Amino acid sequence: MKITSIFASLVAVQQATAGSLNDVTNKLARRQLGDLMSAFAPPAAKVERLNPLIRKDASRERMWFGPYTLPSVKAFHMTGMPLQMDPSGVQITRPLTGFCSNCTVLYGKANLFFENGTRATASSGVYVHHIVVVDTAKRTFPVYLCDGQKGFLGTFPGVGFIISGNDEAPNWFTTPDGKFNSGYGIKNKPMLAMTSELVNYREEDQKVFIAMEYEYMKGSADTAADASVSMFSVTGCDFPDYHPKTRVYNISSAAVPSPSNGYIINAKGHLHDGGDHIVLTVNGNVVCDSKAIYTKSSGAGGGGHHHKRDTLDAQAPQEDWDVITEMTQCTKPIPVKKGDKLQMVSYYDGEKHPPRPTQDQTGKKLEADEMGVFFLNFAASDKPMEQLVVKSSALIQQ
Ligand SMILES: *[C@@H]1O[C@H](CO)[C@@H](O)[C@H](O)[C@H]1NC(C)=O
Ligand SMILES: *[C@@H]1O[C@H](CO)[C@@H](O)[C@H](O)[C@H]1NC(C)=O
Ligand SMILES: *[C@@H]1O[C@H](CO)[C@@H](O)[C@H](O)[C@H]1NC(C)=O
Repeated sequence: MKITSIFASLVAVQQATAGSLNDVTNKLARRQLGDLMSAFAPPAAKVERLNPLIRKDASRERMWFGPYTLPSVKAFHMTGMPLQMDPSGVQITRPLTGFCSNCTVLYGKANLFFENGTRATASSGVYVHHIVVVDTAKRTFPVYLCDGQKGFLGTFPGVGFIISGNDEAPNWFTTPDGKFNSGYGIKNKPMLAMTSELVNYREEDQKVFIAMEYEYMKGSADTAADASVSMFSVTGCDFPDYHPKTRVYNISSAAVPSPSNGYIINAKGHLHDGGDHIVLTVNGNVVCDSKAIYTKSSGAGGGGHHHKRDTLDAQAPQEDWDVITEMTQCTKPIPVKKGDKLQMVSYYDGEKHPPRPTQDQTGKKLEADEMGVFFLNFAASDKPMEQLVVKSSALIQQ
């Protein structure tokens, strides 16, 4: 059975709230979904107020959700739970409350932290397969951009808010210098649901918080173009992950018409280990070439920060592999008109970068799934670029 999906776990939220857990037999799933049922929308465990970094009159907060226990790589073996992308992954799916209302979000990022406030990353054996937050209170731009907007993903009723993966990249709803007048508009109240999958490569359980850091302005920052994040996959309207037949290959997506006028204010690829780069074109012209940046890692002992092999955990059940720690981003706004054809080609070279190791429920070693996806931060607007400039006096960095 091919078991995949980012959004299908949102269906699990509905199932959980409807009290139907019958077909979810996995113990862990029971525990996670059980938590969800016992307190449908628990607030953040902690909210930190931070100084704004983009706009002088903005607010910035970090909300900590959790903690969540990630079972040991040894103890946790899947029994074929649906909705899962990595056989050693833990899914955490829940509504998120406590975000601003009647506001405009400029930036959002999901990070993992240990209880002691240290970041939890690949170097501590915690791998983020994905963290996806969608908002079903909005319908402005498809969260999954695909030809004909068909199927479960293509017609998903919501927009993309904070989305990150192994590259741990931030979501910008303006340009990183803050000058482009756009933002993720929240008209009244957002209806946010998070689905995530995390993998613990260590032999001991690890407890993490999922922290959402975001910066926002009160109200609808005067006539800012409304921005959100869309996923665009080489697999079209189908689920984004697949298992390739060869190690060196490229895949082209369908050419998909832009649903509206506006700007791609941020484009970044999302590849899994083995990926080399991914190219986006608009009407056949290359507008972004997003490259995978690798760091040496060791499965359990961790790398990601250029640790020497001899400092790593000798018990490491996985061998070394190159892990993607960043995808280069294209941050110069790219104008698009409704109907313009967006297309991309992803390039994998599994000889140069071996795929991420993982294992099945019996402990048998497997290669992880692959993806060829662009995260496109799209700001809808009919205005020319020069009318979408924030006054420099409003910016923190002028
Ligand atoms: C915080 O906790 C993590 C996980 O237990 C540990 O690896 C790290 O060394 C701790 N950091 C500090 C500063 O205590
Ligand atoms: C948002 O603003 C509208 C109009 O000003 C108001 O009616 C509504 O109660 C506000 N919503 C929240 C959640 O503050
Ligand atoms: C892309 O794949 C095709 C085969 O599907 C191959 O002919 C072509 O050379 C590849 N392009 C690059 C740049 O690797």
